[in-house]
Amino acid sequence: MALGETLITESEIRGRVGTLAREVGAALPPGDLHCAVVLKSALFFAVDLLRALGREASLGFVSASSYGGGTESAGEVRLGLEAVGRVAGRHLLLIDDILDTGHTLAAARGALQALRPASLRTCVLLDKPSRRRVSIEADHVGFTIADVFVVGYGLDCAEAYRTLPDIRACRPGAPSAPDAKERPGCWNG
Ligand code: XMP
Repeated sequence: MALGETLITESEIRGRVGTLAREVGAALPPGDLHCAVVLKSALFFAVDLLRALGREASLGFVSASSYGGGTESAGEVRLGLEAVGRVAGRHLLLIDDILDTGHTLAAARGALQALRPASLRTCVLLDKPSRRRVSIEADHVGFTIADVFVVGYGLDCAEAYRTLPDIRACRPGAPSAPDAKERPGCWNG
């Protein structure tokens, strides 16, 4: 996999995260808010979103892995809820990086719903509806994108490219950036 063209620029991300935070803020019920962030790729997005949300909230984490060593979902999601925090009776915002086949968000939402939050809303930075295998939509979506593997702004390919400020395509045969190394497989959350 090599780095390809820029799909969403840093300034487009900044602008959209701001409007998304206003949309999410308007939709969330008042009261005790807890945010659960799916590790690791949603971290950059979650920090920017929560800062823009400007509302008191506590923070927890969900670990999820569904991809072994390639770019296709195995369909099986391993979830870790050790660091999710206290959910019962609270308004919960579940934040993930990308809704692709839907396996991860469906599994995480189901597991968190079982912890009996007062309400649950989902927010993803990116949505690839053409790849959906599970019938699920996020309540809030930053950008809808085509079926292309993307990296940057927290998203990685085998831990490479996370710190890129833009979201870029990553595909076999694309021209490599000078500092980009070829990686055999791609990421795990
Ligand atoms: P599913 O298929 O379960 O996938 O909806 C969700 C998780 O898979 C990862 N994912 C990606 N990661 N570029 C990435 O860096 C991508 O294009 C991509 N598509 C899916 C991601 O961790 C997401 O939470």
